[in-house]
Amino acid sequence: MYCAGYYKAMRATRFDLGEMLRHQEVNYVGALNMLDAVLPTLLAQKAGHLSLVASVAGYRGLPNSLAYGPTKAALINLAQTLYLDLQPQGLGVSVVNPGFVETPLTSQNEFTMPALLTPAEAAQEIVAGWEAGRFEIHFPKRFTLWLKLLSHLGDALYFKAVRRATGL
Ligand SMILES: NC(=O)c1ccc[n+]([C@@H]2O[C@H](COP(=O)([O-])OP(=O)(O)OC[C@H]3O[C@@H](n4cnc5c(N)ncnc54)[C@H](OP(=O)(O)O)[C@@H]3O)[C@@H](O)[C@H]2O)c1
Repeated sequence: MYCAGYYKAMRATRFDLGEMLRHQEVNYVGALNMLDAVLPTLLAQKAGHLSLVASVAGYRGLPNSLAYGPTKAALINLAQTLYLDLQPQGLGVSVVNPGFVETPLTSQNEFTMPALLTPAEAAQEIVAGWEAGRFEIHFPKRFTLWLKLLSHLGDALYFKAVRRATGL
């Protein structure tokens, strides 16, 4: 399971290349390092499971997510491709897309986080998703299903809905 992650809110009006690259290193390149370390063994034994922790912030662009969102979108795409390549080899692949969980990572958020979960609740959701053999494990559904719905809108409607919901 690749769970390490880094998040600092950033908007394009305060673009910071160092912070952009740090997000890429921790959130995405770290996952590649993990794959490099474990794939040879998993492929040889033809058994095992890989799980990448991405985020609903990877579904589509969001305000304050300039540095974080693209790394999570990359992880979701990576997990999908890993699934296609590795499932026929007898390996499991899943991607975990949490909504808001109360951790040091989200303590910097200055807004009221909707449908906030405790880490224990998030862990239970992840284990239940693994047990059910799901590819995408997203939670809490009362929040993530709305985001999924939003993510299927055309661009113009999507941008309007996000601006209305966030005020940004
Ligand atoms: N909290 C949420 O609402 C939320 C929502 C969606 C997705 N996520 C994702 O869930 C995962 C866990 O996040 P969290 O909320 O539990 O955040 P967290 O409490 O800030 O934990 C982040 C973890 O990443 C590790 N980490 C950070 N930089 C690292 C580095 N350079 N090398 C190695 N490890 C590093 C930290 O290790 P140390 O403790 O050793 O620093 C820590 O274990 C992340 O991938 C995050 O993007 C979280």
